[in-house]
Amino acid sequence: MKKIVGSKIIRLKEIDSTNKLALSEEYSDSPSGTVIIAEEQSAGKGRKNRIWYSKKGGIYMSILFNKVKDYSTFYKLAILSALAVKDVLSRYTEDRYYVKWPNDLYYEDKKICGILLQSKTQGDDNRLVLGIGININNSISELPKEVRDKSASLIDIIGKKIDKEEIITNLLGRINIYYNELLNGQFKKYLKLVNDCLYKKGRITEFLIGVYFRKLRVLEVDTDGELIVEDEKEQRLKVDFGEIL
Ligand code: BTN
Repeated sequence: MKKIVGSKIIRLKEIDSTNKLALSEEYSDSPSGTVIIAEEQSAGKGRKNRIWYSKKGGIYMSILFNKVKDYSTFYKLAILSALAVKDVLSRYTEDRYYVKWPNDLYYEDKKICGILLQSKTQGDDNRLVLGIGININNSISELPKEVRDKSASLIDIIGKKIDKEEIITNLLGRINIYYNELLNGQFKKYLKLVNDCLYKKGRITEFLIGVYFRKLRVLEVDTDGELIVEDEKEQRLKVDFGEIL
């Protein structure tokens, strides 16, 4: 199997945001699969312009892909990356992890990992960056109140520090496997695994779609990586953007 993800690893003590750096001019010639890892971030970003609190102890990394033609592979990679985080973290705790579509990982009903996919077009180069933040040795007691109640961290679950390097190595290895599988058109092979741990599966839950709130039943992720839901008239619908609240 080709080693693409992690073929080059850059380590930093502190940066504003590893995603921002990976999208900057400075990294425009870096090969696909380059990973930037920071010990801490001063301006970590989440989806919808939210802040990703990034104190020392967590894992903050961005994987960069150049000359991207087919974006759909990367939406699927984001989903499988959440699965990869579950694969690795469940070696340390009970397996109570759920992939929240499109690409977060929850421990029971608390978020432990967030994934932010960003892209940039520069001339004929489409660059894509997959940013992953995981709460490992940073306790959620250090987080601001508004996110504390909704977050989980490995150290709080198991009560002791974990070797972050071991997690990073295993995680990059798994993401590399999933990426190679996606390049060979094998997303379907992993769908059952994703659907078996899909957050709120079978439950009616509130969605924010564009500016509208809707109550929909979560059914499954399909072969395109889209979410299938059911409305109040029991009609199946596809959600290709939007958020489970
Ligand atoms: C989210 O939950 O909305 C996504 C959070 C993504 C956080 C990671 S940490 C590494 C990378 N750099 C960032 O600024 N954000 C991502």
